[in-house]
Amino acid sequence: MDVKEVIFSRASVRVFRPDPLPVDVVNEVLEAGVRAPIAGGVEKWFFVVVMSEGKRRKIHELLKEGHVIYATKVLKEPYPERSVRKWVQSMEAGMYYAPAYIAGYIDMREPRHREEYVDEERIFLHQTIATAFQNMILTAWSLGIGSVWLGVPLFMKEEFNKVLEPPEGLELAGILALGYPTDKPKPKPRKTLEQIVKYI
Ligand SMILES: Cc1cc2nc3c(=O)[nH]c(=O)nc-3n(C[C@H](O)[C@H](O)[C@H](O)COP(=O)(O)O)c2cc1C
Repeated sequence: MDVKEVIFSRASVRVFRPDPLPVDVVNEVLEAGVRAPIAGGVEKWFFVVVMSEGKRRKIHELLKEGHVIYATKVLKEPYPERSVRKWVQSMEAGMYYAPAYIAGYIDMREPRHREEYVDEERIFLHQTIATAFQNMILTAWSLGIGSVWLGVPLFMKEEFNKVLEPPEGLELAGILALGYPTDKPKPKPRKTLEQIVKYI
């Protein structure tokens, strides 16, 4: 597939086949990730790859909790109880249980920006992780590996850190779940350019 084919055929995958991902394939995905643009030209990032069964089970447990927190506590308009119950059922049936997870961390231990610009440095680093994640998502998809970006861990960083054991002082920016899809995902529609773009 060329790049555009990869981009336009991709959709998030949340249910994975149990087949493990070979480590060299995960490394191929990570190598593509770190080719992304990096704000300020610095690599203030770190990635924790979870492939062992015990840790994956713990991550999956936390993801279930994280999604419930998101649906019931985070949103101004919580999901209806029935949809939350259905979501929990799907998660208990294996949704989000992946052969591999890649957690992305940012390193704000020694800010390079002056104090009044530290917030922007944090944004830069989150954006840098985002570019890496997108490279990983697309590379994975080009290899037939599905993925979903998981933001809900940000609502339970401490709990995730206990399992992920990152270097001291790093901040969790997001997690990617990766694995071979059970079904071919269908790309979802987007707004038209007319709705969201203005040329000046
Ligand atoms: C920053 C970010 C956080 C996300 N967090 C979650 C998440 O916690 N759980 C989830 O199921 N999907 C999550 N997603 C995936 C989106 O729900 C998904 O991309 C969106 O519904 C559009 O679907 P598509 O990826 O198939 O085009 C996240 C995506 C992004 C960019």
